[in-house]
Formats: sequence, structure tokens, C-alpha cells
Amino acid sequence: MLTRTDIEHEKLKDDSPFFRAALAPTNEEQQLLFTLKNLGKLPARFDGQLFVPLLEHHNPKIRCLAIKNVGKLKDRRFLPELVAFAKTEKNTLARREAVSAIGRLKTENAIPILTQFTMDTDPKIILQALRGLLYFKEHPKVQSALASLAEHPNELIREQIARELKEHRQTETSKTRNHPASLDTLKNVMVRADVQDVLKVIPDESIHLTFTSPPYYNARDYTIFPSYKAYLDFLTAVFKETHRITKEGRFFVLNTSPIIVPRISRAHSSKRYAIPYDIHPRLTKIGWEFIDDIVWVKPEYAAKNRNGGFFQHRKPLGYKANSVTESVMVYRKKTDKLIDWNLRQYDDETIAASKVMGEYEKTNVWQINPATDKIHPAVFPPELAARVIQFYSFKGDLVFDPFGGSGTVGHVALAHERYFFLCEKEAEYIERAKQMLDTSLFSTTNPRTLSLTELESDIAEETQKL
Ligand SMILES: C[S@@+](CC[C@H](N)C(=O)[O-])C[C@H]1O[C@@H](n2cnc3c(N)ncnc32)[C@H](O)[C@@H]1O
Repeated sequence: MLTRTDIEHEKLKDDSPFFRAALAPTNEEQQLLFTLKNLGKLPARFDGQLFVPLLEHHNPKIRCLAIKNVGKLKDRRFLPELVAFAKTEKNTLARREAVSAIGRLKTENAIPILTQFTMDTDPKIILQALRGLLYFKEHPKVQSALASLAEHPNELIREQIARELKEHRQTETSKTRNHPASLDTLKNVMVRADVQDVLKVIPDESIHLTFTSPPYYNARDYTIFPSYKAYLDFLTAVFKETHRITKEGRFFVLNTSPIIVPRISRAHSSKRYAIPYDIHPRLTKIGWEFIDDIVWVKPEYAAKNRNGGFFQHRKPLGYKANSVTESVMVYRKKTDKLIDWNLRQYDDETIAASKVMGEYEKTNVWQINPATDKIHPAVFPPELAARVIQFYSFKGDLVFDPFGGSGTVGHVALAHERYFFLCEKEAEYIERAKQMLDTSLFSTTNPRTLSLTELESDIAEETQKL
């Protein structure tokens, strides 16, 4: 029985007859698969011809691993085998391996072949071919291949092409250069006003993270909307402006859940509104790129009982689940830049100090008990805000909550050495937020409550000095 150690050991020897035997196409499939999977990094002198007969094996997994190993050799003499395989192979994974291997040969001779593969029907093959072509980005034939894909129906291909064509032109703007900084005027401030008015006076790219829970359509008294459409339009307008004031590539985390508007009499049925699903397409249209769907799970006692009737009659169609979950939807401001670019904007000390240490939730299911407050009817549990703030911001960042309520995002941001900027239109909740912030352990930072006019004049004063 062959072991990994045997394979490692034999690889070190020159011209080993061992692999001729181990890779013979007539061997048991399991043995071939084991050998091919465990070959690891191949020495330059490895005899790649041993893989060639396996490219016609009837088992696609063996063909796929064989072509992958040919690719590892990066030996230009195998270009004809790779091309023939990529053109005739039926298995898509194996074909992608072949196109990827052709690209990694980094030879100009492959440009016409890779260009042909940019006309493939499988978008992943096209993306692999593109990767190979990009080694010769400045070559006129590559430039024209890129240009011809600019209007490709596949979104990933279009994005890749746009990124490549743009990279040539891109220069850093003053906004992107000063990524970790934010206006002092906005730091640790609560504004007592309608969020739509507040957003109008905030300069572009002012904040690093937004975490919020908006009013749930007519579920509580604080805002009554004439229709569900009007409600969604309002949220869309707020989150569009939030997008504008968010720094490049930074995150927006939205907590909502479906809500129920109770029936008006026994002759009517209640109406359920799927807020997360309805707001999602509007957010992506604005330019928020979907990143994650986290589910906040509360204990069963926290759910409103909806299945009393079903419990009695047990008849199909009448089942109603008690809802113990809320959505925590994570988005990033769409950009060509990778997360690495965002990281590079911070110094090493800030990055080290912002690391999320110790135990953390690895799944998208977050079990957190709900919180209650004597004044505000729907507050975030501090644990929920703490996770979002630690996962999606750095120390010294500015965290925004457009629907600040009792200010949970504020005191949790301070506890994690971030700044906060909150809006809340109800005086009662602003008072509550002030109390919470004053009694918080981090009250030394002197949070300020401003009116819209005060905020506007402070911003004007600070931006004039810049
Ligand atoms: C779900 S609560 C947020 C609670 C908050 N997460 C907390 O932990 O206390 C939504 C808040 O948005 C506020 N609000 C609703 N419409 C608003 C508007 N147009 N401008 C500013 N605040 C608004 C409500 O008064 C309410 O306090």
C-alpha cells in the first residue's frame, strides 16, 4: 500500500521507475487518485510524460488531476498537450485546469490560444484565459481581447475588464488618500434631527462603518408611513446617502426582519412584509455589494407566539412559525479595490490593535439574547453591536448609526475605541442616549448633542480650514 511518505521519498530520486509504475494507466483507480493527489510540488526534472496517457483516462477525476500535475511543471514543451486537452475535454473542471495551466506557462505563443478561450461559453474558462492573458497586459493583441470583452453579458467578466482598463488611468484622490481620517466635528456626536436632513450636510466619504436598525414599517409609533412603497423609498433614500458618505470599500451592516401588520378583524388576514428581501435589490442597485447574510437568533421565549391556533387544530396551511431570527445583512461599498487596499491605508500599530482576538463566532448564525430598555422599545443588544464594530472597523474609525435610538452603537463604539456619529429625531431617545453615554465607562470623551444648524456650521468651519 502506497503512502505519502513513499511518494515524498521517491520524488527526491532521479529518474525513478517508481512513478512509472505508480502512474501506469492500467492501475487501480483508487491508487492512481491517491498518487496524483499527493504528488505535491514537483521537482523540475519530474518526467511529465508520465501524466500524458492519463489525460485520456475514462475517469474525469483522474484526467483532472493529471492535467493539474502537468500544469504544476510549468514546462512550455507541454503546450500542445494542454491545448489539445483544453479543446476536447468534456469535464469543465478539467478544462479550467488546462486553460489555467496554459496561462501559467507565461509564453507569448499562448496569446492566440488564450484569446480563443475568451470566446468560450463557460465564464470561468474565460476568466482563467483572462488571467493568463494579463501577464502580457501591454501586448496589443491582449489589449484588443480585453476591449472586446468590455460588454460581455457575464457580470464577473465585465467587472474584471473594467478593473483592468481602469487601473491604467487611476490616480488616488485626496479623499482616498486620507482614508483613516474623519472630521473632528462628526466625532462622538449625536444629532437631534431627521436623518434625511442630516445626511444632506455630511461631506462625501466621511465615515468608515454604518450599523443600523431602521424603524420597522409602521410596527411602532415612531414613524408612520402612508404605504410600504413609501417606507422602502424612504430607506432607499437614506441608504443611498449613506453610500455617498461612506469611505471607499467600507461596510454597511443592516439589521431588519420581516414584520407583521395585524389583521383588522377576524374577517381579514394579517399581512407580512419581507423587509430584508425587499430592501436588498434596492441596496445593490445603489452600489452596495452584498457580502454576507448573518442570522441573529434569539431564544425561543423572545418570540411572539403565532401558532396558538395551529397548536389546537393541526390542519395544514394554517402553520405559522414563531420567528426567533432577524437578518444582519452585510454590504461593502462597491469598489475595484480589494480589502487589502483598505488594510494598506492603516499603519501597522492600528491594524495590530484592532485585531479580533480570542474566541469569535465562525458561522453566520449569531445566538444573542435580545436587550430591553426602560425608555426605548427596540434597542440593539450591545453584544450584537460589539461584534459588528469589531469585525468591520478599525480603532479610531468613525461608526455611523442613522437611526441612533438609545445610542447603543455610540457607547459600544467608545468601548472599542472607535468614534460614533448618530442621528435620532425623537428628543426622548436622544435624552436616553445621553444618559447611556454619560454613565458609560468611556464618558470621558464628552459626547456632544447638536442641532442640525449647529452641525452644519461646525462642518463648514472645519472643512474651510482643511
Ligand atoms: C429600531 S430603532 C433603533 C434603536 C437603536 N438601534 C438602539 O439600539 O437604541 C429606530 C430609531 O430610528 C428613529 N427614527 C425613525 N425615523 C427617523 C428619521 N427620519 N430620522 C432620525 N431618526 C429616525 C426612531 O425614533 C427610532 O429610535
